[in-house]
Amino acid sequence: MLNFEFKNPTKIIFGKGEIQKLNNEIPKDVRVLILYGGGSIKTNGIYEQVLSALEGLQIEEFGGIPANPEYEVLLEALKVIKEKNINYLLAVGGGSVIDGTKFLAAAAMYEGDPWEILKKPVRIFEGMALPFSTVLTLPATGSEMNSGYVISRRGTGEKLSSGGPGLFPQVSVLDPEVVRSIPKKQIANGIADAYSHVLEQYMTYPTSATLQDRFSESIMQTLQEIAPKMLNEDFDYDVAGNFMWCCTMALNGLISKGVPTDWAVHAMGHELTAQFGIDHARTLAIIAPSHYRFNIESKKEKLAQYAERIWGITEGSEEEKAEKGIQKMETFFHSIGIPTRLSEYTTAYEGCAERIEKTFAERNWMLGEYRKLSPQDVKEIVQMSY
Ligand code: NZQ
Ligand code: ZN
Repeated sequence: MLNFEFKNPTKIIFGKGEIQKLNNEIPKDVRVLILYGGGSIKTNGIYEQVLSALEGLQIEEFGGIPANPEYEVLLEALKVIKEKNINYLLAVGGGSVIDGTKFLAAAAMYEGDPWEILKKPVRIFEGMALPFSTVLTLPATGSEMNSGYVISRRGTGEKLSSGGPGLFPQVSVLDPEVVRSIPKKQIANGIADAYSHVLEQYMTYPTSATLQDRFSESIMQTLQEIAPKMLNEDFDYDVAGNFMWCCTMALNGLISKGVPTDWAVHAMGHELTAQFGIDHARTLAIIAPSHYRFNIESKKEKLAQYAERIWGITEGSEEEKAEKGIQKMETFFHSIGIPTRLSEYTTAYEGCAERIEKTFAERNWMLGEYRKLSPQDVKEIVQMSY
């Protein structure tokens, strides 16, 4: 097992009707900015619950943060923070609203051009950001219990990530009831995103971190078990609760401790969102199978372990099991309605791989658990995904 440090300071409040508890969690003397997205919270009752929980506090609000939170929109929110002397943020939304809030928490205290925080990037340590909490409305990213965030800038075609230990939410409320109003397409995205988060931290090379492997496998198995219920059956609170907790556990830092991690699929996927606007989770399903096939030599032991433990494939050589594992992964994405080829999302894919190769070369990026995957390798992987 590799050496590691683990500190996750986010307090989780999980369960039905628990949004009200924010009342005891947010200090009474702060000026709070409530941040939200395109308006789903105004039609599903979450907004009223948040207002009721914040009764007696000084509040302002900023709505309209789009999916793949847009830098220019966030700059408008930054103005409100400065004009109204806001000193506490409350994100009410999915990954986009929470990520946007993390960026704002850092930008509010940053002296230079806010884009530098992402472009350099600037690592945000404790004390370098405003305090903030979240009410999660869409299980998927794990942003409610981690310190990373991803911001898009359509003007420059960039989608960049950053973070740091100063960007953990103080409190995150996870009420599975919010799942009731989520469109099936977004639920499928959430399942695919969380599943991919586990893969990024699991599909590397074997170590002696037996418990981490089992944690990861249990999250993938649980997601597979609940996926058809989430997508084909009426709302079930317990199923929704398991879905929500899987998504949080997939990216709150726990399963990556003591093991190598990859994250190349996310790096490539973010470029597909930047170029074509494809939903984050779907970009991962497009890239993952090709990435694992391209790297089958270095990943075959974990791929075979995945095939065996997750899908019960015991026949064949290690390579054969590894390939069957990848096929099962594709079938799983298809079973939740997510196509795995870029050409199924856009006809304008020609040249996309070359553009990503160029961008990664400019950034001097070498990817994968060995940091050996070059921009040329990336080009091939993306081409394999067409
Ligand atoms: O904007 P509203 O009207 O609220 O609608 C949203 C949005 O259109 C809707 N929605 C959310 N909760 C709902 C709901 N609709 C009905 N009922 C509810 N309860 O869902 C749509 C998508 O929301 P969004 O927040 O964009 O989705 P998601 O949570 O998948 O977040 C995606 C963003 O997170 C980043 C992605 O790159 C992308 O920008 N990620 C963040 C990570 C992190 N911070 O750790 C890791 C991830 O890998 C990912 O990169
Ligand atoms: Zn993701």
